[in-house]
Amino acid sequence: MKILKNISLKTYNTFGIDVLAKQFVEVSTLDELTEILTLYPDFFILGGGSNMLLTKPIEKLVVKLNLKGIEESPSTTDDNSVFVSAFAGENWHDFVLWCLNKNYGGLENLSLIPGSVGACPIQNIGAYGVEVKDTITYVEALDLKTSKVVSFSNANCQFGYRDSIFKTSSKDKYIILKVTFRLTTKQHQLNLDYGAIKSELGSAINPSLSQISKAIIKIRSSKLPDPKDIGNSGSFFKNPVISNQLFKTLLKDYPNMPSYNMGGGKVKIPAGWLIEQCGFKGKRFGDAGVHSKQALVLVNYGKATGSEILQLAQLIESTVKNTFNIDLQTEVNIFS
Ligand code: EPU
Repeated sequence: MKILKNISLKTYNTFGIDVLAKQFVEVSTLDELTEILTLYPDFFILGGGSNMLLTKPIEKLVVKLNLKGIEESPSTTDDNSVFVSAFAGENWHDFVLWCLNKNYGGLENLSLIPGSVGACPIQNIGAYGVEVKDTITYVEALDLKTSKVVSFSNANCQFGYRDSIFKTSSKDKYIILKVTFRLTTKQHQLNLDYGAIKSELGSAINPSLSQISKAIIKIRSSKLPDPKDIGNSGSFFKNPVISNQLFKTLLKDYPNMPSYNMGGGKVKIPAGWLIEQCGFKGKRFGDAGVHSKQALVLVNYGKATGSEILQLAQLIESTVKNTFNIDLQTEVNIFS
């Protein structure tokens, strides 16, 4: 393992923010990881870099997780299931394609999400009516206190909307090493209800998993910027959940406000709509901007700093608060 000095992290985060790592190392095995963590107790773990905003140089040792490999084992009790385990450093979309190639179902709606397998349970990635928690059976992680590998069942991960125990009570206590999914082999449970999927599939009566994946890729590509072309981290904010009471008050002024009833007196409002109403959609402030086709996505047109993106995010938060009395929460992790 070679420790590199003063490395730019521009190509290691999908926002394309140019900050320096004072020291940087890539690890490919669990042994390498434990060895490095013993030598350098002050470290910063980097996965796919797809859900973070870096606003300053990193003084700690940056450890890039490169653990690779995919394993499968058939279910012994259910002939429609297979267990597939992928190591944390696998690229998420490549892993989805691997599953599609075997005709294993469950992840097709999550095609083209940037990032790594290791990051998928942390924020319970989701898109087009599916969340990754629907297929995860367990997550193996390194306990940083004991240096032992421990296993979290699906229930123990405490998954919620863009949330898990790894973002809350167990934040920074574990490093995710491997994720195991239960996928279908023959009879697939298709999720085609999300608005645009059916129209994208057109006349296909019994669409195959890869037809669905292609439709999802087309929908995503039409709305969401490709980090290869324009730096971004997908949705910058979560969709806020508000009380029915506030919702009713707001409806008087905004009768067309879109909403999803969550039950229990709560309503979810698309943050993209709120941000668009505040006039930010497509706006650009230097190289920091709001995507023209999806206002929930903040973008770096090239040379924006993390602080410039953060300033824009704060301006959006305060404008939404003043206009709608709604607090936006970031989905992206901010390193400041
Ligand atoms: N909308 C607007 N203007 C916008 C964007 C959205 O008015 O600029 C309104 C529209 O009414 C639209 C509704 O918001 O019908 C929902 O928009 P969309 O279908 O694009 O979904 P979203 O709620 O904005 C969520 C996820 C995305 C995921 C899509 C599709 C969050 C924070 N975001 O966005 O996830 O791809 O649904 O399932 O839940 C990500 O997490 O990085 C991400 C891209």
